[in-house]
Amino acid sequence: MASKIDLVVIFGGRSGEHAVSLRSARSVLSVIDTTRYNIHQVGITSSGRWVTGANVLEALEQNDISHLPGAAILGDPSRPGLFQVTSSPDGEKLTWITKMDVVFPVLHGTYGEDGTLQGLLEMADVAYVGAGVLGSSAAMDKALFKDVLRANGIPMVPYILATRVEVENDLPAIIKAAEKLSRYPLFVKPANMGSSVGVSKCRNRSDLQEGLIDAARYDRRILIEMGVNAREIEVSVLGNDRPQASVPGEINPNADFYSYAAKYLDDKSDLLIPAAISSDQTARIQQLAIKAYQAADCAGMARADFFLDNDTGEIYLNEINTIPGFTSISMYPKLWEASGLTYPRLVDRLIELGMDRKAERDRTVRTYGRGS
Ligand SMILES: Nc1ncnc2c1ncn2[C@@H]1O[C@H](COP(=O)(O)OP(=O)(O)O)[C@@H](O)[C@H]1O
Ligand SMILES: [Mg+2]
Repeated sequence: MASKIDLVVIFGGRSGEHAVSLRSARSVLSVIDTTRYNIHQVGITSSGRWVTGANVLEALEQNDISHLPGAAILGDPSRPGLFQVTSSPDGEKLTWITKMDVVFPVLHGTYGEDGTLQGLLEMADVAYVGAGVLGSSAAMDKALFKDVLRANGIPMVPYILATRVEVENDLPAIIKAAEKLSRYPLFVKPANMGSSVGVSKCRNRSDLQEGLIDAARYDRRILIEMGVNAREIEVSVLGNDRPQASVPGEINPNADFYSYAAKYLDDKSDLLIPAAISSDQTARIQQLAIKAYQAADCAGMARADFFLDNDTGEIYLNEINTIPGFTSISMYPKLWEASGLTYPRLVDRLIELGMDRKAERDRTVRTYGRGS
C-alpha cells in the first residue's frame, strides 16, 4: 500500500471571518479519508498565534488554547515540515513533528485568502490547496480586480475609487463624483474585505457620507458602485489549467442586501440550486466565471459571484472568492453536489489539484541558462 499523505489543515485566522473558517474546517475535517491521509491540524487564533496538537479545532471553538503547543512552518525550504514550538526559560524550542505533503488553508479573508499565507507556503516550498500568491491577492483586492476584469472585457458594475486620505480631506469632491457616476442607491465598500464588512447601501447623500467614513476604517481604498437592482447568481469553479464551472445557484438574502447579518446572523437567506435562469444565461455566466478565473491566475477553486440586473437583464461579475465558505451546506460545495461531485470527493479533488499545481510549478526553470 502506498504510504499515507501528510495533510496539514490550517484554520481560524486573523480575519473577521475567523468563526466562519472554523465552521468550514469542521466540515472539511469530517470528510477527509483517513485511510489515505494523516491529518494534522494547525489553528491560528484571532490574534495570529499558531497552535497544534490534538483537538485544535475544539480548542479554538471554545476559545481555550492554553494547553496547546505552538506551531510553525518555516520559510526555509531546507527545514521542511511542521514544527511544534514550546517555550522554556532558555527560549523557544522547535521540534519537528511531521513532513508536510500538502497544506489545505481553510481560512477566509485577510492573512489566509489574500496571498500572504500562500507566500509563506511558497517560501516553504510545499504544495497547498487553492490559488497562489497572485491569484489570491488579485481576487482579494476589489479595486485591482476591476482592472483585471476591464482588461479582459468582463462586464462589471460602474464604479469609482476613492482613498481614505480623500475621504478625510475632501469628502465633498468624492460625493460629487459619486453622484455623477449614478443616481442612488450607491454601494460603498472597502477594497480589501469580505463577508460584507464595511459594505453599505446608500440611499442619499448622508448615507453616502456615513458609508464612506465607515468603509475608510477598514481600508485605505474604497469603491463606490452604482447600486443594481439585481438577482445574485453564484457559480463554482474547480481546476488548474482546465477549470470547470458548476451549475449556477442563486442567493436570495431575504434582506435589503446580502449584508453580514444576512450572511451569518439572520439565517433567513435561501440558496436556490440550480438558479432559475435560462440556459443562455447559464452558459454566459459559466464562461465569464472561467475567463475571470484564468485572468486572475486562480488555481484549485474559486466561487464567482454575479449580479443579474432585474431591469436590464445585464450580467455583471461582482467578485471572485478564492477560499469560499466551505461548510457542507455552503454554496461552493452545494453547487458541485448539484453538478455531480459529492462533498468528500470535492475535498479530495482539491487536495489532488494542490499537489498537481506544485508539480507543475516545480517544472519552472528558475535560473538562467540551459541547466547543468
Ligand atoms: N453594486 C452593487 N449593487 C447591488 N448590490 C450590491 C452591490 N455591491 C454589493 N452589493 C450587495 O452587497 C453584498 C456584499 O458585497 P460584495 O461586493 O459581495 O462584498 P463581500 O466581499 O463583502 O461579499 C453583495 O452580495 C450584494 O448583496
Ligand atoms: Mg460577496
